[in-house]
Amino acid sequence: MASTCVVGLQWGDEAKGKIVDLLCDEHDVVVRYQGGANAGHTVVAEGVTYKLSLVPTGILRKHVDCLIGNGVVIHPPALLKEVQTLSSQGVDLAGRLHISDRSHVILPYHLEEERLTEESSSSADHIGTTRRGIGPCYRDKVGRVHGIRVGDLYHPEFFRERLARAVDYKNRLLSAMLDSYTPIDASAVATEYLGYAEQLRPFVRDTTSWIHDAQAQGKRLLFEGAQGSLLDVDHGSYPYVTSSNSSSAGITPGTGMPTRHIDRWIGVVKAYTTRVGGGPFPTELDNEIGERIRRIGREYGTVTGRPRRCGWFDAVAARYSSRISGSTEIALMLLDVLSGLPEIRVAVAYEDSSGNCVESMPGHLADLERCHPIFETLPGWSEDITSCRTWASLPENAKQYVRFIAKQMQIPVSIVSVGPDREATLRVE
Ligand code: GDP
Ligand code: IMO
Ligand code: MG
Repeated sequence: MASTCVVGLQWGDEAKGKIVDLLCDEHDVVVRYQGGANAGHTVVAEGVTYKLSLVPTGILRKHVDCLIGNGVVIHPPALLKEVQTLSSQGVDLAGRLHISDRSHVILPYHLEEERLTEESSSSADHIGTTRRGIGPCYRDKVGRVHGIRVGDLYHPEFFRERLARAVDYKNRLLSAMLDSYTPIDASAVATEYLGYAEQLRPFVRDTTSWIHDAQAQGKRLLFEGAQGSLLDVDHGSYPYVTSSNSSSAGITPGTGMPTRHIDRWIGVVKAYTTRVGGGPFPTELDNEIGERIRRIGREYGTVTGRPRRCGWFDAVAARYSSRISGSTEIALMLLDVLSGLPEIRVAVAYEDSSGNCVESMPGHLADLERCHPIFETLPGWSEDITSCRTWASLPENAKQYVRFIAKQMQIPVSIVSVGPDREATLRVE
């Protein structure tokens, strides 16, 4: 057993954190390769609930090193707060957290730039983001002129000069476009961020060399995707996506590590579908069943507390994202949430506006919005399955549902989760 990729195949919150935590038994390093504090992974271990955002989930296991790759965007105050919270929960990070000097830094004007579009009077501008400055920071990274990287913070003169130019540009732009914008003082921000840099210094290094050395020493790496493949900026439901490659496609650019070392590709899905923020959602349930799933599954955002939109499992979308992310096995999560429903539906195809049957996910927003799901209906089960720990102990209809998902996805389901705790998990036989 060598290295593993764990990636969400829906619109995020598939319970990737739980699976990563579980698989830490078999790995030495957990690597985040994209996203930032927009991610929220809840892990329940030995009765304690941990919330991880920027820090890789492996931090909860003492033997695991955790790496924040160059593809992640870092808001230093958010990261320091998370480090502090984890420390206060008894998690020892010393010598185990490694932050790339090539990661880009989220600055106060990024949050303001996001406000500009998210609070615009035109609803067409609203993506429904987490407002963590993710999109504007990635925009500056790709734009090159104003991007600031973690490594810049350790060259104070260079940093102050580069920040001053960026702030001058942003102040002029934002003052013209945003009511109630208070111009940012570049010197004060520089001093503040140089202070953060001192606190982060023990963690910052050349993670590209570090990860290659770890791999060469035979360490088993686990790449932890944030968000989900349908939120991928290239392959997701654009423009209602995040600003990074949140499918497994982000691994190489976000770490400097080729994926040929990975031999296990786990796609994580919920037994149903959720989505936070705007964008098309063909199987959305805007009714009592959707509300029931939200209530029983506690479907409220870890980061923003927003109610998650809930719907049936969408096999068209999940098949598509599984191809993109190269999944060879599925972890099927939150199956317990469906207990008690007399019947359960799964979208197996879409019907487009001309009445044609579509089995692949349309690339254009307008086409996807016009698609209607074609459902197959399966019998539900009434038993509470939260204490099931073996495949054999699942009710027959629950097994039938799992087999149906595997058939639709055209790959095996290897893990089924029936509750938030580490132990509430079973291997499929
Ligand atoms: P992530 O972002 O993909 O790691 O997922 P989140 O942590 O945002 O959301 C998943 C939620 O489901 C968390 O609150 C988990 O504690 C919870 N959870 C994980 N697995 C299960 C399960 O099998 N059943 C139930 N009921 N909850 C689960
Ligand atoms: P985890 O890792 C669910 C969604 C936002 C919004 C869109 C863009 O916990 O699965 P952004 O702030 O990234 O610019 O927002 O992406 N989004 C997520 N949805 N889970 C996440 O992360 C998400 N991260 C971003 O709701 O629709
Ligand atoms: Mg989440």
